[in-house]
Amino acid sequence: MTEVLRDDADGIARAALLLRTGRLVAFATETVYGLGADATDGDAVAGIYAAKGRPQFNPLICHFPDAAQAFVHVIADERARRLAEAFWPGPLTLVLPRRAGSGVSSLAAAGLASLAVRVPGHATARAVIEAAGVPIAAPSANRSGRLSPTCAAHVHGDLAGRIAAVLDSGPTSVGVESTIVDLTTATATILRPGGVAREALEAVIGPVGYAADAGIIIAPGMMRSHYAPSLPIRLDAVAPSESESWLGFGPAVVAAPVMVNLSAAGDLREAAAHLFEALHRLDAASVAAGLAGIAAAPVPHEGLGAAINDRLRRAAAPR
Ligand code: TXA
Ligand code: MG
Repeated sequence: MTEVLRDDADGIARAALLLRTGRLVAFATETVYGLGADATDGDAVAGIYAAKGRPQFNPLICHFPDAAQAFVHVIADERARRLAEAFWPGPLTLVLPRRAGSGVSSLAAAGLASLAVRVPGHATARAVIEAAGVPIAAPSANRSGRLSPTCAAHVHGDLAGRIAAVLDSGPTSVGVESTIVDLTTATATILRPGGVAREALEAVIGPVGYAADAGIIIAPGMMRSHYAPSLPIRLDAVAPSESESWLGFGPAVVAAPVMVNLSAAGDLREAAAHLFEALHRLDAASVAAGLAGIAAAPVPHEGLGAAINDRLRRAAAPR
């Protein structure tokens, strides 16, 4: 059952409590309704992908009550500080280098070295995030392939029974998603046009490019910066060879000098929560041990397994 919460002190407190305990809550921002989860809880973040039925792990935007709290998790340069000053709270998302050990789960960032951060302009959104006391990862609150929701009824129609609650704040005011600006490169680049216009950004930090102009492919999972391990991966393996490490899934006992099990219990949500961190760790340990490759156990292609397999296939693709 999905609770429908009122936009009042009780509703906000209830939403924050649910978020703090790892549950999923949809709430309004000024752009569209977001499907929120504690960004520091990999299991909760995995729940977002499960609820959306997303076949891929796209990186998620992390939401904060103010710029100071956002900049704890990323390295903000002068451009970032000026844009934050000019447009936050508001429909602008900044992609910045992720600070090591920030506590945001690697699944929320889809294993990237960068993190997208935003301070929403909607007072209720900020109140919920502030009361939750943790960064809130939130994609638009729709099932994969459907339209972004601009009222609570859209969210309920799409996600009822799949999320803990929706906080009803009426229709959103902006109606299109936030503008996403990549500040990890020398030239600021718009990855997604949205609620803040290019000209407005340029008035604050000078020339801003469009990713589309530069021919950068930003389709889900296609970003050039997506993490790929240094060693080749062999998928659907039964066992590792002598020169391979082992990426396991499930209770089967496999002998390998270096191994990581995504979930000994065979739990897809646990596997998703650990996927990127496990790949990083296994890759580094395998290289250190002088191994030549990674053999990966098959992962069932159901529920979150589809997204896990998508990521593994990309990681295994020849480069
Ligand atoms: O207005 C909005 O931004 C809404 C509200 C809920 O805040 N959120 C939203 O999230 O539109 P979503 O997940 O539907 O879209 C986020 C976009 C995705 O296209 C994703 O690829 C991109 O942001 N993104 C997230 N992190 C990124 C990163 N580190 N680098 C590049 N792109 C990133
Ligand atoms: Mg979306």
